[in-house]
Amino acid sequence: MNLPSNVYQARVKAGTLKQDDAQQKIVLLLDQLCRSLENYQPVVHSAGGMFGTLKSLWKKPEQPPRGLYLVGSVGRGKSMLMDLFYEQVPVQHKIRTHFHIFMQETYKRFHVLKQQSGKGGDPIPDLAKELAQKAWLLCFDEFQVNDIADAVLLGRLFEQLFALGVVVVATSNVNISSLFQNRPGADAFKPFIKILSQQMQEVELNAAQDYRLGRPEDEKRWLVPCNAESKERLDHIFLRESKAQPIKEEALTVMGRSLRIPCAAGDVTRFSFTDLCDVNLGVGDYLALAQRFKTIILDDIPRFNPDNMNVIERFTMLIDVLYEQNVKLYASAAAEFDEIYRKEDRRAFFERTISRLNEMQGQNWGNAKRIM
Ligand SMILES: Nc1ncnc2c1ncn2[C@@H]1O[C@H](COP(=O)(O)OP(=O)(O)OP(=O)(O)O)[C@@H](O)[C@H]1O
Ligand SMILES: [Mg+2]
Repeated sequence: MNLPSNVYQARVKAGTLKQDDAQQKIVLLLDQLCRSLENYQPVVHSAGGMFGTLKSLWKKPEQPPRGLYLVGSVGRGKSMLMDLFYEQVPVQHKIRTHFHIFMQETYKRFHVLKQQSGKGGDPIPDLAKELAQKAWLLCFDEFQVNDIADAVLLGRLFEQLFALGVVVVATSNVNISSLFQNRPGADAFKPFIKILSQQMQEVELNAAQDYRLGRPEDEKRWLVPCNAESKERLDHIFLRESKAQPIKEEALTVMGRSLRIPCAAGDVTRFSFTDLCDVNLGVGDYLALAQRFKTIILDDIPRFNPDNMNVIERFTMLIDVLYEQNVKLYASAAAEFDEIYRKEDRRAFFERTISRLNEMQGQNWGNAKRIM
């Protein structure tokens, strides 16, 4: 077996990775886990066939090795280290997946099994068994619990997975004890937090730097096109800018009305273009947003349709306000900002928007102290 530490050192020597003492410590833990997994036989895979069944009657199930939960700020190398471990670990039945994708697939399978099991049936034990048979080493990137439905499903599913001897490795920006906290229903989730802490060793990666900072591709603020990659980049930016503070819903009062902010974390908010520029909002709303938030993330700006001047004017108004208030804007868009509204169709006022957007792409834009 080629241990993660050997591969890490080889990459440092080759110059593709910088030596980082904090990462080095984690690499040693990953080495240890590789060694303990080498000869580990989980219950779910040891009780196969007649002989196996008899044998498993006498043999006490082996205690699974404790997995790892890598937590830390953005860009520190958590995913990189987990991938390095995943490539080297001598386990055949393993999967590595982004947690969002895992949840989507799990819900789909849950509904199929629920239909098969009929009214009142509980699909979770079958779901857990199916999954554990496919893979008993699960590596999750960006472990998170977003809502009460996820919390309920995960709690029950993981309890069963661990009972079957499954080992979990995960990366996250949130400590285990903070998963799904300060939300309605959080108390019911506490037993799951305890189980996760028992089954996974939580280690913080305090790497020297955010390795994405300063790389031109990671500093871009206007991402083209609106695809999964841009969305993922904006996810990272959201976490980085909000310092991974919990996401909350908020309301701002604008001229006696209430403006709902569905997604706010620290000084950052995130909207889809449609929800911000294709609804009945005006300059007062944008100003309230710009005064409350230092950073605004805007998803899915489409190419502008000259027949829909309302939307174009609202966007122009939004950019004017964000510019005046020195707010950082990160966006995904169907085209570069000087092509989003075709030159042939464009009204003169939009030249100002382009010029401002251009200035707002600068790396220091939005870092100045704000005059409120
Ligand atoms: N020691 C290193 N030397 C050079 N590049 C590194 C080093 N560690 C990580 N990187 C690179 O930095 C980038 C960010 O690392 P990675 O994606 O693993 O961070 P992360 O901790 O998972 O961040 P996030 O919390 O945002 O998911 C990756 O492209 C990775 O390859
Ligand atoms: Mg990551």
